[in-house]
Amino acid sequence: MSVRTLRIPLPPYARRAFGAASVTAVAALAAALLPTGQAGAADSTLRSLAESKGLYFGTAMTQGDLNNSALTAVAGSQFGMLTPGNEMKWDTTEPARDSFNFAPADRLVSFAQANSMRLRGHTLVWHSQLPSWVSSLPTTQVRAAMENHITKEVAHYKGRLYSWDVVNEPFNEDGTFRSDAFYNAMGSGFVADALRTARAADPTARLYLNDYNIEGQNPKSDAMYNLVKSLRSQGVPLDGVGFQAHFVLGQIPSTFKANLQRFAALGVNVAITELDDRIQLPATASALAQQASDYAAVVRTCLAVTGCVGITQWGVGDSDSWIPGTFPGYGAATMYDANYRPKPAYTASATALGGGSGPSPTPGASCKVSGVVNAWNSGLTEDITLTNTGSTTLNGWSLAFTLPAGQTVTSSWNASLTPATGEVTAGNLGYNSTLAPGASTSFGFQANHTGDTSLPASFSLNGSPCTTA
Ligand code: XIL
Repeated sequence: MSVRTLRIPLPPYARRAFGAASVTAVAALAAALLPTGQAGAADSTLRSLAESKGLYFGTAMTQGDLNNSALTAVAGSQFGMLTPGNEMKWDTTEPARDSFNFAPADRLVSFAQANSMRLRGHTLVWHSQLPSWVSSLPTTQVRAAMENHITKEVAHYKGRLYSWDVVNEPFNEDGTFRSDAFYNAMGSGFVADALRTARAADPTARLYLNDYNIEGQNPKSDAMYNLVKSLRSQGVPLDGVGFQAHFVLGQIPSTFKANLQRFAALGVNVAITELDDRIQLPATASALAQQASDYAAVVRTCLAVTGCVGITQWGVGDSDSWIPGTFPGYGAATMYDANYRPKPAYTASATALGGGSGPSPTPGASCKVSGVVNAWNSGLTEDITLTNTGSTTLNGWSLAFTLPAGQTVTSSWNASLTPATGEVTAGNLGYNSTLAPGASTSFGFQANHTGDTSLPASFSLNGSPCTTA
């Protein structure tokens, strides 16, 4: 194959290449080359690392996710616990009074069982995703409707779920009860009633209360703490508290660990139930590094708290996350990018779980990348050569990598690059779309930089990590 290479006249430059890179740079690169869910060695998955520490690592999935084979491959191998993202909520399971629909959730339950994943049921009593027939009931009828809903839904899954989020988000930020249909009809007693009803329908599922913004010590978590204490002292069946943990980059509360500990001291389990860490887009390399440190902090906190049973991330990859739709301008909140490549947060989580210096490069890697940077004071060019080391011809290729902080692409040749910063994907052009086994192709780009002229930390081809030459 002939490859056109456009050469740009360069000012005097510093020259870097993988072949001549320092030992540290090569080691950092190797550590960043992680297995994807599909190819990961069995002993280096989040799931197995967490289990070796006595925790679970879970994810949330919705039924549409079942059609995404890249997603299901990661979910089924990297996560040992599954939470249906929407399908067990009241608006899906009982859209009309006493008319139940468990089919969507059943599909997710089947997926979990087929992959030996346990399940967290989410959620029975919640002000949101609540059909209007419930919120418009006369207050005198709400208790019967709630008990019937809990009894039938919990009975349907009896013996099959690890836990249930029985009541979700009961509190306002100031620690007062949210005035939803349940509180308005029954006062705070609806919580105990819901828990007792759930226990009667399935004595084996662990029963949880779940909320957000209760990760640190504040008026809302104080209210949850007092509720848990009161319920436990009355002998109400309550096994755990779920901390949703929808974090903002760099803002893990300093009281997170102490707060989990005070709950655990009440005799309940604690769990991180909906972890994500949102970044203001576009996600720069430094934001991804901060996110890695945030995820590691969450893992270390759970490990350090006796009674913390596990962590669930809310969604598998960045494109499955609810964040961009709910918090405009934010995203990139999970450990996997839009192509299901593990991000720095994945590496950091795995390392925090005792994964050592990181998994070795994927044995099945079918690509090799070499790169040369030519840099001057505020600019650089980078030439990248991609070799197909697999045994099948590639018909179309997409090479993904993360640009170091401060680098912004201004032009490119022999491939189309998008976006200009952060997590970049280089796609083939028409003439170089086919890459036979053993064949190489080269492309490149010019970029501005603010001091960091290093090569991208890792490359993956069509979703699988590449080795570097
Ligand atoms: C979210 C889902 O991810 C979205 O798909 C849906 O549109 C809204 O709900 N707290 C919870 C979860 O307890 O159920 C929410 O899930 C996210 C916030």
